[in-house]
Amino acid sequence: MSVEHTVEKTADRFDFDTREFRTALGQFATGVTVVTAQDGESGYIATTASSFNSVSMDPPLILWSIDNGARSLPAYEKAEHFVVNILAADQVGVSNHCARQQEDKFADLDFDLNAYGVPALRGCSAYFHCKTRYLYEGGDHTIIVGEVLQFEASERDGLLFHQGRYSVSDAHPVVTAAAKPEDLEEESFAANYLHYLVGRCFYQLMDKLDIMLEKQDINQDEYRVLASFSGLQDADYDTLLHYTLLATPKLLPVLDGMIERGLLQKTGNSYSLTQAAQNLLIPLMAMAKSNEADMLGTFSGEQAQQLKHMLRRAIAWTA
Ligand SMILES: Cc1cc2nc3c(=O)[nH]c(=O)nc-3n(C[C@H](O)[C@H](O)[C@H](O)COP(=O)(O)O)c2cc1C
Repeated sequence: MSVEHTVEKTADRFDFDTREFRTALGQFATGVTVVTAQDGESGYIATTASSFNSVSMDPPLILWSIDNGARSLPAYEKAEHFVVNILAADQVGVSNHCARQQEDKFADLDFDLNAYGVPALRGCSAYFHCKTRYLYEGGDHTIIVGEVLQFEASERDGLLFHQGRYSVSDAHPVVTAAAKPEDLEEESFAANYLHYLVGRCFYQLMDKLDIMLEKQDINQDEYRVLASFSGLQDADYDTLLHYTLLATPKLLPVLDGMIERGLLQKTGNSYSLTQAAQNLLIPLMAMAKSNEADMLGTFSGEQAQQLKHMLRRAIAWTA
């Protein structure tokens, strides 16, 4: 969808819908943190915050902002130190827990105290141990800038927040395409040759499907004919040539054989499935879909759609 730019100079004060503003901000993907600090003598505070960002390398500064209505604000304002706990992908529960106002958030949390007596939550993907440096007014939020005294990072994937919901990161297809294929030598001609890649993928998928087809006593050619009828009542020879991808000399004997086996019937130039074949079609399509899902399971939903889209384009281009 394209964005129409209708920006006009308006009055100095904003005049737009706050919900729409929030939605637009949600287009910016962030990580999720829980900022922790000591609350006087009595206890500890924890606030889920996605407003974390880096500020400076030298000195090492980071910031986050807290709602002026948050109960824990006065304690953060007083705290000399705080920890930014960068949540890992499996810590949605921790994020929700620390985003709820409640008496003692730490009763249900696993944590260790750092050298400054501030809790660091267990299982996070990174930690920034900070000294509170500056507080700034930022409208209805207070911006807290911390100097990083120490940090720790793990290999764990971080939790993301995007378009108003939790998310996990996945490498962009541009990056994965450039990555070294696991079982193919990068330098080999085949590893970079589209014909080979498409062909090998096709044959490997068909080999897996074959095991399933054998159970239904159907061979690959017959399967291609049956699958061509999904969504069609009947089909002529040319339509079947188009969908089965079988060469002309091969298709006719396959069709004749299927008529003999009671799977196909022919009226004039038109072929249709017998009741026996129709009964086979649903389990066969389910098998084919599970075969496809096995392979696409290695991709994210978006990558899978992109892969299919690109293949359709390649097919249209080479037709
Ligand atoms: C994903 C997510 C991100 C949040 N980011 C912020 C934030 O950056 N700043 C903030 O003040 N509140 C943020 N909140 C809301 C606070 O976590 C929540 O209002 C706060 O912890 C309430 O507890 P308190 O009033 O006891 O401090 C966020 C909540 C969620 C679920």
